[in-house]
Amino acid sequence: MRILVIGSGAREHAIITRLLAEDEPHEIICAPGNAGIAADVHTISLDQTNGAIVADFAVDNNIQLVVVGPEAPLVAGVADAVRRRGIPVFGPGKAAARIEGSKTFAKQIMQSAGVPTGRGVHAATLQDVAAALDELGSPYVIKADGLAAGKGVLVTQDREAALAHAEFWLGHGGVLIEEYLEGPEVSLFVLSDGDTVLPLAPAQDFKRLLDDDRGPNTGGMGAYSPLPWLPADFVDSVLETIAKPVIRQLELEGSPFIGLLYCGLIVTPNGVRVIEFNARFGDPETQVVLPRLVTPLSGLLFATANGSLEGMPAPEFSDEACVTVVLASEGYPESPVTGRALTGLETASAIHGVHLAHAATARGEEGALVAMGGRVLSVVATGADFTEARARAYLALDAIELEGGQYRTDIALQVES
Ligand code: AMP
Ligand code: GLY
Repeated sequence: MRILVIGSGAREHAIITRLLAEDEPHEIICAPGNAGIAADVHTISLDQTNGAIVADFAVDNNIQLVVVGPEAPLVAGVADAVRRRGIPVFGPGKAAARIEGSKTFAKQIMQSAGVPTGRGVHAATLQDVAAALDELGSPYVIKADGLAAGKGVLVTQDREAALAHAEFWLGHGGVLIEEYLEGPEVSLFVLSDGDTVLPLAPAQDFKRLLDDDRGPNTGGMGAYSPLPWLPADFVDSVLETIAKPVIRQLELEGSPFIGLLYCGLIVTPNGVRVIEFNARFGDPETQVVLPRLVTPLSGLLFATANGSLEGMPAPEFSDEACVTVVLASEGYPESPVTGRALTGLETASAIHGVHLAHAATARGEEGALVAMGGRVLSVVATGADFTEARARAYLALDAIELEGGQYRTDIALQVES
């Protein structure tokens, strides 16, 4: 199949790696990609949030499937533009992508669909914020209403800090104050062709920058899958009580969701609650879910895009343990340093069971690899169990040199056997 993948993160590299491993050969073009993706497939530079440009490119190049990785092009309506030209697209249109792009819209959908989530209050002024903080109590959860690249949420017991965070985001699209929920987090990816849904395997993401869940929230510093501690009926129950009602509600409202609904969940003592939806594959969760996927990915993406998931068997996953650890630049997430040399990648990826998914990497002078700030790459390791997978991941990180590079040392530590 001729596939166009939009994006430049480790998530897109993981998707491409999985597609290239299939028996069926694919011709893949990635826009814009990164240095790691460019080593594997053809990359082009193209304005990924401009629907007309992406659609023209897809038509002119006989693309048979467009896979949109990040949220920005989805929220900008890129999938609509491509779909209008008759090309199957994996990714929701602008209206359905609001499930990620607007926390207030997501809350409304959940309310209408009867989906369990924390109480939330939309605030338009600082007075509203203060009243909501008093009503919902400490710890305070303050969320930017629009897209914020993982930086919009503050959980704090400090009322002044809560007000300051809210004040900043009030000037950037509004805020939602939410009830604090306690418990382990789970990310569950659900494929939806607008009507039929199929679940992928659950994963756990580590959102805080530092070990022991300290430091600021980030886009995600690591992940693992499977989650041995989940009850056996977890996925089925989330499908019935959360994913299906939400997909049905979006369809009812005239904005069918075609693509991947990322259910961000907290397992509280009172049951599972939704903390967020995303309209795309999660990063870094994709890096641990796809290596375990046995069913060919291209068939799943194509059937999703084409409205033909009905009657397909649930995707199959291997039992192996998969861990990913994100290497980020010095200064991430506030002010990442860019342009530093990145070495040791060949040694790292030669370790058995290890592969690298590149994110912010580029080729500098004379072709040497440089880190372009933010999340630089994901080390992905599989093993018979989490002890083995973790050992391999951290051995690979020891081999990689990046001045000031940051990574967590406790990813999947709690599930080591
Ligand atoms: P979000 O971007 O909504 O996923 O939020 C980022 C992170 O903030 C989540 O992964 C949680 O760790 C935390 N968080 C979000 N909402 C809540 C909540 N209602 N209660 C407790 N923690 C939350
Ligand atoms: N890992 C969180 C996200 O993809 O939004």
